[in-house]
Amino acid sequence: MSRSRTEAARRLVETDILLGTTDIPLVLGTRAEKAGEVSPGPAPLSSPEGGDREARLAQLRDRHDAECPHCTSARAHTKTVFGEGSAHAKVFFVGEAPGETEDQLGRPFVGRAGQKLDEMIKAMGYRREDCYIANVLKSRPPNNRTPLPAEIAQCGPYLVEQILIIRPMVLVPLGGPATQLLLKVETGITKLRGHWTHWVPPDGSGIAPIPVMPTFHPAYLLRNYTQQTRSEVWSDLKAVVERVRSG
Ligand code: URA
Repeated sequence: MSRSRTEAARRLVETDILLGTTDIPLVLGTRAEKAGEVSPGPAPLSSPEGGDREARLAQLRDRHDAECPHCTSARAHTKTVFGEGSAHAKVFFVGEAPGETEDQLGRPFVGRAGQKLDEMIKAMGYRREDCYIANVLKSRPPNNRTPLPAEIAQCGPYLVEQILIIRPMVLVPLGGPATQLLLKVETGITKLRGHWTHWVPPDGSGIAPIPVMPTFHPAYLLRNYTQQTRSEVWSDLKAVVERVRSG
């Protein structure tokens, strides 16, 4: 067995332990290829074109911090959390809003939910730094409450700009608020997760609709760490890996 196949097999075993997906038949080293579920090695996650994306993201960050109507008037946060990752990411994870640790460090998903997201990304065969991770709201709401529609209306457009700069192959909203914002629906995440839809860019952007695979928020997964939720999240993530792999 080649080194990459051995590595892929090892990762799949770890993934089953991690996400509790023991329902998937396991034949070490050949299951991935046989089932056609995931690629045998990490999918290439960067694309060559658009070399100025880093600069555009940096400019957007400065503009956001200077003029976002929500974040410049909100008083409950310590640092804004713009987002981080590859400007050429093919997979863009969208969370809800920074939590306490993120607020202290100014980075998305670095607390407990972030550790679970890191495990999810690793299980997909990706590196965190090759993906992009941002939130609907870029400053922590008081007492971690759910973002209000008015806050999303003010801060949400910066997320849209991030997506337009990065132009990922797939958007993965984590949980209800992110999914509802991207899909402009009010349906709950339980109904939306696991189903492909599209994010439709604003008119005139010249960008084609981007596939969206909603899944549960890692904090929800931690609170409901059952065989069923782990299997559902893993099924959603596998669908993303397959989509990226098949281009
Ligand atoms: N939850 C989120 O939605 N975003 C973070 O950055 C951290 C926790």
